Amino acid sequence: MSTFILGIESSCDDTSAAVLQDRKILANLVANQDVHKNFGGVVPELASRAHQQNIIPVIDNALKQAKIHKKQLHAVAFTNGPGLLGSLLVGTSFAKSFALALGIPMITVNHMHAHIHALFIEDELQKVHPPFPFLCLTVSGGHTQIVLVKSPYSMEVIGQTIDDAAGEAFDKAAKIMGLPYPGGPLIDRHANLGNPDAFPFPHPQVSGLDYSFSGLKTSILYFLRDQLKQDPAFIEKNLQDLAASIQSNIIQILMKKLHLAARQTGIQHIAIAGGVSANSGLRKALQEEETAGKWKVYIPRFEYCTDNAAMIAISGYFKYLQKDFAPLDTVPFTRYQS
Ligand code: KG4
Ligand code: ZN
Repeated sequence: MSTFILGIESSCDDTSAAVLQDRKILANLVANQDVHKNFGGVVPELASRAHQQNIIPVIDNALKQAKIHKKQLHAVAFTNGPGLLGSLLVGTSFAKSFALALGIPMITVNHMHAHIHALFIEDELQKVHPPFPFLCLTVSGGHTQIVLVKSPYSMEVIGQTIDDAAGEAFDKAAKIMGLPYPGGPLIDRHANLGNPDAFPFPHPQVSGLDYSFSGLKTSILYFLRDQLKQDPAFIEKNLQDLAASIQSNIIQILMKKLHLAARQTGIQHIAIAGGVSANSGLRKALQEEETAGKWKVYIPRFEYCTDNAAMIAISGYFKYLQKDFAPLDTVPFTRYQS
């Protein structure tokens, strides 16, 4: 018999609902919030208000698209952290009342684990899944981690950023260049037409498997300040080369530690996950390692990289198999915990 799970994601600025039949997606809808564009980042108050407006229509539409009646659902899985408290509370409160009304179990999902579980969604375009153990570079707007994944239930963070996340580096660099939020996808697009060696930026010196991205932001800021003094149109004239150089720098930093992790653990099954894994340069860099015969690589389908509820639903499915259900008094958490 099939298991039908409703997944709900509301940890940041995307309201998303998905319906899963075992590991297959029946529907995966995301309502983005445009309200943050002009603020250079997510405004928590506006995010939670938009989640409140979006959550019912998004879930209703997901169920309709999946052609599933709510009474057919076996469980409701929802993100309970890490994320913005106000945003998480909207998903948590909805999930509690929905599960209670339907008399079905609730499943709490760790957003960062779900990014990794997205690699196990089964569909026509994602037929190959990583074997255990594998290493996953989980790169998003709030986190940058190298995770040793031993099973769906056992994940160990063996390296992480000591300051900014990789997605934050993309977004802050874009903001300095006057691009709207989120800047990552825009840098990606401009970078495709630019020279990655045009402007060399320094690499951080951080020990072990940890990362640092705050220095990059500062060097871009000072570099552009100096250039703009001589030519106020410097950014406009060099946008593609700047984007390509910044992107290349971030990818080199990410790849260097990933190589070190692969050497230290002896694991050659390497995956990427999280919003920044949508970056075309990072996907290509990983693919090149496979072509060179070094690694076997696993890259999620584009729509499972940035925040989505399909990943929450599959994470919920793994917990459903273990009957790992949450009590009604469960509360969200804001900072990463394993
Ligand atoms: O996983 P995600 O959707 O949300 C969080 O959990 O944070 O990641 C969002 C981050 C943002 O920083 C965004 O700029 C970045 O992922 N991102 C990208 C690309 N698409 C999204 N960064 C670089 N290139 C992209 N194509
Ligand atoms: Zn995310």
